[in-house]
This record gives sequence, C-alpha cells and structure tokens, in this order.
Amino acid sequence: MDDTCHLYTDLAWLWPMWGDATTEYAHYCQHVTGLIRQHAKLPASTLLDIGCGGGKNVLNLKRQFAVTGVDLSSAMLAQAKELNPECMFVQGDMRTFRLDRTFDAVLMDDALSYMSCLADFAAAFRTAYAHLNPGGVLVATPDVTTETFQQNKTIVTPAAPRATQAGVEVVFVENTYDPDPTDEQYETTVLYLIRDHGRLRIETDHWTMGIFSPDTWRRVLREAGFEVHEGQYRAGEDDYMVFTCVKTS
Ligand SMILES: C[S@@+](CC[C@H](N)C(=O)[O-])C[C@H]1O[C@@H](n2cnc3c(N)ncnc32)[C@H](O)[C@@H]1O
Repeated sequence: MDDTCHLYTDLAWLWPMWGDATTEYAHYCQHVTGLIRQHAKLPASTLLDIGCGGGKNVLNLKRQFAVTGVDLSSAMLAQAKELNPECMFVQGDMRTFRLDRTFDAVLMDDALSYMSCLADFAAAFRTAYAHLNPGGVLVATPDVTTETFQQNKTIVTPAAPRATQAGVEVVFVENTYDPDPTDEQYETTVLYLIRDHGRLRIETDHWTMGIFSPDTWRRVLREAGFEVHEGQYRAGEDDYMVFTCVKTS
C-alpha cells in the first residue's frame, strides 16, 4: 500500500480532536521541563519544538520557555499558530532545516518515527545539535523502539470532547504492524471514522515509519555530539524511554 498523508494536509482539522492538549500533553511537558532544568548547564529560557505539529506541546511549554516550533506541514503549523499566536513557527524539514539562531533546549516528540531510514534519523539529530547553545539540552522521546514495539497493536481513540466540533463525531483507529522485523521500518495505518450529523465518512492514512533499537538511538545521538542520559516517562498506560541529551561544548 502506498503512503498517504491526509492527517497533516486535508484532514489536519482532525488533529485538535486527537488527545486533549491541556491534560495528557501538560503532564508530559512537565516531565520534559524537569529534565531540561535538571540537565541543562545554563538557565534555559528558549526552546525549539521540532515536529511541533498542531502545537499542543507548545501550548504547555510556552509557560516555561519562549518557544519556536518547526514542522514540515503548513496545515499543522496553521493550527499551532492558532493555538499559540504569540509563538513563532517556521516550516522546515527536520533532516535539513537550519534557522539563523540557536536555543537553550530542543524537543523532538511524536515526530521522529517519520524518519524511516537510519540516514534520515541521524540527520534529524544533527539538526537538533546545530540549533542548541553549548550547555543546552535535547529531549527526544521514541514512539517505539525494537524493544517496545507490539505487533498489530490497535488503539481506538474517540475524539477529545472539548475539541469536538458541533455535530461532528470522530473516532481514530490506529494500527501498527511490522511486516519485516529484521529491517528498520514498520507501518502505521489510521482509520478516521468521521460522522457529520450522523452521516459516516471513512478516511485512511498509511505511513512507512522508522524503528530502531535503543542501542542505535544511543549510538546515533552520541555520534551527533551529545552526552546521552536515559530515563522513562510513565503516565497511565504511557510508558516511553526518554533520551535527555546535553550539548557539552
Ligand atoms: C504526530 S504529529 C506531532 C504532534 C506534536 N507533538 C503536537 O504537540 O501536536 C507529527 C508531526 O511530524 C511532522 N513531520 C513529519 N515529518 C517531518 C519532517 N521531515 N520534518 C518536520 N516535521 C515533520 C508532521 O508534519 C506532523 O505535524
């Protein structure tokens, strides 16, 4: 099946309905802020969110930092700007973009899986390194690693009640599958069940994504120049590795 990208283009209006920005994202952002404060060798006041999507992490992190967001998708950036009008957003590809400034902290959350080969994955971390001040910190959270991946896992998520539009009900069905566990890719397939005043429309997305072992994460981060620290983020059913990476010089 060929890859598609409706969620970040014509279906980007669904993104605010997928998870509540003020609850689940807030908890994760508190954790991220704590890691930055713990590991940064400077008083961190600026943060770059790479792959910022619709700006839900930005919404929470801007209480602690002056946040700039970068994303590939103009539709997602438009949402991020609507949610965070006081923040700056820039369109860019995490493998290649270079801004003319640096930051005290960088976040890469829920977007690195789009790096579907090792060369792209390494390039994204070089981008993060290039945008950090000496003593600054990158926080990077794998969606999955080869150790945490669950074959054929399917998650059904009803639309967040506060984000729902009048008369529109949405259910997200997300399935992950690895047809060849010996390579560095897996597939994510999403069904969007969209009911507009009861009338059903079904849309789908399919992505080829990257999956790497924890050892590959460690090696690639070190090769990018970082001092690497590891921890765990646990909240409810969420249980992720978190890499806190310091640019020491
Ligand atoms: C699941 S969303 C991230 C959501 C975000 N964490 C939030 O707070 O709303 C994944 C994002 O990664 C972005 N993305 C995918 N490939 C990218 C790339 N090469 N460079 C920059 N952003 C990319 C997509 O456009 C999408 O907005």
